[in-house]
Formats: sequence, structure tokens, C-alpha cells
Amino acid sequence: MLNELEIQLVTKYILSLNERSDRYGDELVDHVLHRVTYLNYDDGVDWDTYGAICSFRDEFEDEARMAFVERVLQGYSPQVSAKQPQAPCHILAASQFDLKAIELVFKRAQQIEHSSTTSLLHTLQGKTLACVFYEPSTRTSASFIAAMSKLGGNVIPITQGVQYSSISKGESLEDTILTLGQYADAIVLRHPEVGASALAAKVSPVPIINAGDGIGEHPTQALLDLYTIQREFGRTSNLKVAFVGDLANGRTIHSLATLLALYPENEFSLISPFLLKLDVQSTPYLQIKDKVVREIHVRSNILEAEEAILDADVIYMTRVQKERFGFLENYSKVKDSCLLTEDLVKRLKPSARILHPLPRVNEIPKAIDSDPRAAYFREVKMGLYVRMALLDLVMRPTSSWLPNL
Ligand code: NCD
Repeated sequence: MLNELEIQLVTKYILSLNERSDRYGDELVDHVLHRVTYLNYDDGVDWDTYGAICSFRDEFEDEARMAFVERVLQGYSPQVSAKQPQAPCHILAASQFDLKAIELVFKRAQQIEHSSTTSLLHTLQGKTLACVFYEPSTRTSASFIAAMSKLGGNVIPITQGVQYSSISKGESLEDTILTLGQYADAIVLRHPEVGASALAAKVSPVPIINAGDGIGEHPTQALLDLYTIQREFGRTSNLKVAFVGDLANGRTIHSLATLLALYPENEFSLISPFLLKLDVQSTPYLQIKDKVVREIHVRSNILEAEEAILDADVIYMTRVQKERFGFLENYSKVKDSCLLTEDLVKRLKPSARILHPLPRVNEIPKAIDSDPRAAYFREVKMGLYVRMALLDLVMRPTSSWLPNL
């Protein structure tokens, strides 16, 4: 726990932020500041002490966190200085994130997870988020809306079907984004075309958050999946990961594999019908080429991949994405090829975890939900914290903590 001297030092440091350039060298203060900012209740402090530190931290949180973000970035992106006006920090692809950026997001998510809602309520007060969904969504849209309101901000929800917006009158994506950018401080965008978020980012005056661009990427889902893995296993490395189902169209897999490939000793098994295989060699956003241990193309039944599934730590299930098929006959051929069974789940490693970005169709029977290894609804909850962290960091940047693509 912090002693009185440490607290005084932090207070002094924070009060001197205006003239802080000559104070950056002070390692002790930096160390204490770091401890105050990121201490959490499982760091071994008792509950009362944790409460006291939280109120201390809440009081100074903004400045303390901003100072830390700046410091992290000085090593990360030296050409960017906090004093320069910044271009918006878009979140478009998983490959934008390196280990340091992920750590920053996760620490903030964890801090949020352990903070009271009232202490967070003013964080994004006065800010507005536009949620524009050209494709259906339950979790992604609801969690961004919930995240924004828990941080005290407002939402412009264009999530109930673009048929009610000017998009149905033929308005271009660029014009919609340019318009919403006049009202909102950030825009969450889901769109059926690969690259739509990158296109939006080119014209947007405010940060764009890619909430799924066709079969391309879904970086915020990948971050919450990875955060769930960190919370469930206590690590994000040295894991055997089985990706199962529609690997060709599953954008969450494309982004998650990119993130998991950053960590040492992760190995991947890619389990799908041949028609839905992940094209590891030609997919530009995957760095997992050297980490794939097996590709299994099942014909009719998940048991054809039994060995790989029983060996896995993470079984990442996905649905077959009917809406991406040109010919429904092809969908019918593969839709039931990767269904998890109760018997198979019984035989998983005791420490294994089943993840799924949801929605599920028939690939995980409901009876499996009560198995402690079924982590997919916990994953939903984690998504809220990760998205709160991302909104906070994107809408209150003191420096460009993510490099622009
Ligand atoms: C996924 C998506 O939209 O890519 N869901 C999600 O965002 N939680 C997966 C899917 O639709 O199958």
C-alpha cells in the first residue's frame, strides 16, 4: 500500500503537471504514480485501503492517467508529442495494437472493472458517440451504448436499421460520416464491406471505431476476447487455440488471431470445412503463418478434429455466417459440420475455456452453458469494460496513443 510520503509525492507531482517537463526524470514519483493509477484490489491490499486509494485516484485520475499515457507513448511513438494537435485516433484493425497498446487498454479496462459506476459517470460527460450499424447487431451496439452511458456520455443510435436514416435514400458512406462527425466526438461503424471503416476514417473529423467491416476485421471484439483470455487464464501466451467454424467469413477470428500471434508460444489449430477455411497464406492481416500447427478440414462432423479440440486451451467457436453465402445450397452443405457436443465438452481439459463472439445458432448446445468452462457470457461482460476503456482513450486522447494506419 502507499504510505503517506508516497501519497504526498504523487500529490505534489500531479499539482506540478503544468511545469512537468523538468520532472519527468523523477523515477520514484513515476513509480508511485503508476502504482496509484493501476493498483487494483487483487494487488494484495485490504479492502479499506483499496477504497481509500480509489477515492484518491478518482480525484486525480484524469491528470494521472493522461500523464501516464503520455509517458508510455514517448517510448512507443516518439515522433508524436502531446503538445501537437492530433489527428483522430481511429481503431480500424487489430494490427494497430502492439503489446504496449494492448497493455494500456487492459489496465484501463481492469481499472474500470473495479471502479464504482458513480466514480466513472463524469468521465465522458458532454461527449457524444454515434453508433452507425449497416448490419444487424445485438452485443456490439448494446455494449457501446451501455459503455458510453456508464461513462456519462450520450449516444446517437443509428442501430435499428439504416432504412430509417438517409442511407436508405442513397446517401454515401462518406457523407453520412461527414455529417455525424459534426455532432459526435466518435463514430462506431459496422458495415458489410471490407475496408469501409478505413474509408470512413479518411473523411471523418472524429475517431472511427471499426465494429466489423464485412468479412474483414472486428478489432474491438478481438480485444475483448483477448481480455477474457487474460482474465480466465491469467496469461495471453503459451496457449493452444482452436478456431472452429466459419474461419473464412469470421471477422472476429481474423482480428483475434492477429492479436494472439503477438504473444510467444501460442499455437493455432484451424478447424473448419474446406469451404470455410482460413486462407492463412494470402490473408493480409494475419501474422499467424508460423504458428499454425494444424489445419483440419472437417467433412461432416467436429469429431474429425477431436484430437486438436481435446488438446486446446481455448476453443473459439463461431457460427457459419449464412448471410455471406451467395448460394444457400453451399450454406446447407456446411452449416452443421462444426457443432460442439456435450460428450466432447465433458472430455475437454479441465482448464480449457470455450469462447464464442455470439450470436450462436446451433454450434453450442444450451446444456453446455452451465459448464464452468463455457466462458462466452463472461466474455460479453468483459466486452463492456474493454469498450469503456477504448471509448475513454479514444475520446480523451492527450496524445496519439495509437499510430494512424
Ligand atoms: C460477431 C460479428 O458481428 O462479427 N458478433 C459480434 O460482434 N459479437 C460474430 C457473428 O456475427 O457471427
